[in-house]
Amino acid sequence: MEKITEKNESSDFDELTKKIEEEILEEERGIYTEKTLEEAYNPKNVGELEAPSGAARVTGPCGDTLQMHIKVEENKIVDCKYITDGCGASMACGSVVTELVKGKTIEEALTVEDKDVLSVLGGLPEENIHCSVLAMDTLRAALEDYKSKNKSKNKS
Ligand code: FES
Repeated sequence: MEKITEKNESSDFDELTKKIEEEILEEERGIYTEKTLEEAYNPKNVGELEAPSGAARVTGPCGDTLQMHIKVEENKIVDCKYITDGCGASMACGSVVTELVKGKTIEEALTVEDKDVLSVLGGLPEENIHCSVLAMDTLRAALEDYKSKNKSKNKS
């Protein structure tokens, strides 16, 4: 009879974890595009900015929240970061939105649409469309925040 040692238990556990992770990834490949999985597992621009020029935090109908910060210099978005407690699709959407607006002027960023995010990702399942809407709503709110702060600055 094999003696169960701590080492055996932990390597069995590691193997089981690896197997489960592979199964989940395989299942996700059937649901999401490769691009969505890539952005969800290796998201860009995650974090917060110190003294952002515009900021917003929006909670979607699913109860998940996304926060976005933009840094604007001479009317250009020079940096954009986000954090979310949402699903993998919202991670992917936040990543794509930040990449889409970096380097754009405020006016150009306002023309970015939900369908642009979906087009980069190669689409999302119907039940995840609201995740891209959440990312875009947060961007628009951050742009509005920047505009309203700037308006009051210009007045004073
Ligand atoms: Fe809530 Fe995707 S952001 S389910």
